Amino acid sequence: MKGIILAGGRGTRLYPNTIAVSKQLLPIYDKPLIYYPLSVLMLANIREILIISTPEDTPNYERLFKDGSRLGLKIDYKVQEKPRGLADAFILGADFIGNDSVCLVLGDNVFYGQSFSFFLSDARKKAEEGGAVIFGYPVANPKEFGVVEFDENNKVISLEEKPENPKSNYAVPGLYFYDNEVVKIAEEIKPSPRGEIEITDINRTYLERDMLNVTLMGRGMAWLDTGSPRGMLKASEFVQTVQDMQGYYISCIEEIAWRMKYISTESLRAIGEELKMTDYGKYLISLSEENK
Ligand code: G1P
Repeated sequence: MKGIILAGGRGTRLYPNTIAVSKQLLPIYDKPLIYYPLSVLMLANIREILIISTPEDTPNYERLFKDGSRLGLKIDYKVQEKPRGLADAFILGADFIGNDSVCLVLGDNVFYGQSFSFFLSDARKKAEEGGAVIFGYPVANPKEFGVVEFDENNKVISLEEKPENPKSNYAVPGLYFYDNEVVKIAEEIKPSPRGEIEITDINRTYLERDMLNVTLMGRGMAWLDTGSPRGMLKASEFVQTVQDMQGYYISCIEEIAWRMKYISTESLRAIGEELKMTDYGKYLISLSEENK
């Protein structure tokens, strides 16, 4: 399975923070926002990753991750000239996806929870067998998201993008698993009234074909909003609180690469040494000494 991170968009809701810097490069506490969705793909054991961003911002992502080899990954980049909608990821990524299945994660989505790795491996398995897997997460403000409605057997009845009158309080987070059909489906999607090719229309196509799975995330899973300055601050405070309390870092991509055995203890230590003036670097060094 391949992975795509969509890190485009103008970030207008965060202006002036994002006039000169891509939203997904802004910090959530101690690391850039994009580390969080990248860690999601890594936890799904996806190692071939495409980062899609704007012409101005793509060079910054290249500076940050290079070819990904330091993390035991293969990272490619693709420029999106204009924000045409989330479904564009599969058109821009068609060559990268090839004949494979694919996971799309939005570059500003932050997830955290104990059973999350299980959700990921289960979703991956289902999409590899054929069809699509999306998630449902209860929110107080469903109008601002894609909304999924389902019956008592968790079977999806409807999907709507930012509905005026939401049929449920379950939002669809920006994490989607698809079989290879998604490329063809994306090419056939027509722009919505807001002029974008919508991911929700892709999901609706899978629903009509009876190939859509929805997994509900409940209490114990955090899906953090980064859509406003307030949301970003709260997300930072959440990460700080958990890290300070437990001593374990959230979405530390070097730690994940090491625990997944993509990189050696020596490589982990070398990265830690480069960052040793920070708590982040000291954390990596302490991990590298864990099994001695
Ligand atoms: C997008 C999707 C929406 C989804 C949301 C999750 O909206 O269109 O369906 O619920 O991401 O973050 P956006 O935030 O890009 O407006």
